[in-house]
Amino acid sequence: MTQLQTKESLYDRARTTAELLKSRIKEQPKVALILGSGLGALGDTLEERIAIDYSEIPGFPVSKVEGHAGQLAFGRLGGVPVAVMQGRVHYYEGWEMEDVTFPIRVFALLGIKDLVVTNSAGGINADYVPGDLMIISDHLNLTGVNVLRGDNDERFGTRFPDMSDAYTTELRQLARKAAADLGVDVKEGVYAGVAGPSYETPAEVRMIGKLGGDVVGMSTVPEVIVASHCNMRVVGISCITNLAAGLSAHKLTHEEVKITANQVRATFGALVQKLVESIGR
Ligand code: HPA
Repeated sequence: MTQLQTKESLYDRARTTAELLKSRIKEQPKVALILGSGLGALGDTLEERIAIDYSEIPGFPVSKVEGHAGQLAFGRLGGVPVAVMQGRVHYYEGWEMEDVTFPIRVFALLGIKDLVVTNSAGGINADYVPGDLMIISDHLNLTGVNVLRGDNDERFGTRFPDMSDAYTTELRQLARKAAADLGVDVKEGVYAGVAGPSYETPAEVRMIGKLGGDVVGMSTVPEVIVASHCNMRVVGISCITNLAAGLSAHKLTHEEVKITANQVRATFGALVQKLVESIGR
């Protein structure tokens, strides 16, 4: 367990990293963004961009997965000061949940109140097709663990955080409006988060559908739990990159996920930017 391997508390480590980042940036970021597979390039478009490799940021885990290049970029998106994670690490890579979510704690200590998370996911809801975008209304934590297990540090948040509006109603409303303004059709549904890395079996996909999951993916849930713990407002958008296992005639590959993510990238990026503009207003 990471906590026991180091004398310094998680809070102190996050604060040290936040202080270091503060000394490198010109402006307090208002919104933090986590850009999932395929969407990272949006972070290249920031005005007054300052980018720092994860490998240079104490406590930030560095992914080895192709297509998840790790940089934290600061700057302005649509005029709004932002902190952008270009790529993220996943639990399935072997990281502890505490490491996966460390950047969120740093964002909280940087004084950032709003978090935009993006990801790719497999579609389970029969109305969804690959290429669809979905505003996350809620999640099912099917990872088998909870990131907040262990001692609670009240400086971050309460022992038993409320999750009833984790994907904040207000920000979802802004996401719907941003999509409507752009003429982009969006779904809204429940993200089921699993540990991975194997894709689900068809039986698991049927189970998740019966439990109320509209899509399934391998990220986001731990980050959102930690953001809720830190009293941040969250909005999440999934790109449905494929039909979940057993729902299409072909086998699932990471290739398919990447291809669809690339095809939707421009629309997804425009939606995220518009959403950030409306949060920053
Ligand atoms: N399952 C889990 N994670 C995913 C999928 C999927 O079908 N597609 C993209 N990420």
